[in-house]
Amino acid sequence: KTVSLIGAPTDIGAGARGASMGPEALRVANIGPILESHGLTVLDRGNLSGPANPWQPPVEGYRHLPEVVTWNRLVHEAVYAELSQGHLPILLGGDHCLGLGSISAVARHCRDVGKKLRVLWLDAHADFNTSALTPSGNVHGMPVACLCGHGPQELIEIGGKVPAISPKWVRQIGIRSVDPGEKRFVHEQGLEVFDMRYIDEMGMRQAMELALATLDANTHLHVSFDVDFLDPDIAPGVGTTVPGGPTYREAQLCMEMIADTGRMASLDVVELNPALDVRNKTAMVAVDLIESLFGKSTLMRR
Ligand code: ARG
Ligand code: MN
Ligand code: MN
Ligand code: MN
Repeated sequence: KTVSLIGAPTDIGAGARGASMGPEALRVANIGPILESHGLTVLDRGNLSGPANPWQPPVEGYRHLPEVVTWNRLVHEAVYAELSQGHLPILLGGDHCLGLGSISAVARHCRDVGKKLRVLWLDAHADFNTSALTPSGNVHGMPVACLCGHGPQELIEIGGKVPAISPKWVRQIGIRSVDPGEKRFVHEQGLEVFDMRYIDEMGMRQAMELALATLDANTHLHVSFDVDFLDPDIAPGVGTTVPGGPTYREAQLCMEMIADTGRMASLDVVELNPALDVRNKTAMVAVDLIESLFGKSTLMRR
């Protein structure tokens, strides 16, 4: 299997600067060689090059919309090109607004080849805001809504079909911070959310069993891994920490259960912010978990 690393060094959609350094921190944490050690062929495509962050206040509910659109177009084309060549793209973010470019490319690829799409959204946040609901104007709080067709025209039409995906294809895990208006909208649109309350009561195992149920041989599984999914104790290097996230063990189990399906065909690793990290430990824990996502296990399985 061939995986392609695509760096998108930007914090254009975030509320703190620094996620632009994420791709390099993941490389410094040896993401490439570690994936190769598990028998994968790794192509590091280097970094995309896009507009700088002008650090402006919101305009009509969005911060940096023109730059967000440019970055997402670049990501879309890069991810789509790798999928067309039969590679498994790993988007190294960058902030989570880039999930729009990445997942719209995955959805387009699935239309090309007649596959069903399932999106696993690992995050502390639902990222389901609109310009009317957002408390910040930061577009990293909006990609899921945009993918489902709720957002600015230039952004939602990037994949060529609006909406790019149906809310029914999404499963969110680890959610523990949702804004008041966003909460209503999540409910209204029927997103399937395994929040921390669910994980506390039922356990990560049960959450993942349900989130991964009904995958079949014709399903493309996309994993969008916002590093703030993890508890800040193990992953302080993110801009929007929320206490009470999955522990190291819970996160490992989550990744291992995804690996066991054998269906993961694309991945985003986003929101890593090296400016807020401690000796690159968040990058290292992310790479450790990504290893499990690609099938690292203590003993032989099956
Ligand atoms: N809900 C908040 C907002 O809209 C935070 C979003 C955080 N998103 C993220 N991808 N870290 O501003
Ligand atoms: Mn997110
Ligand atoms: Mn988040
Ligand atoms: Mn390791």
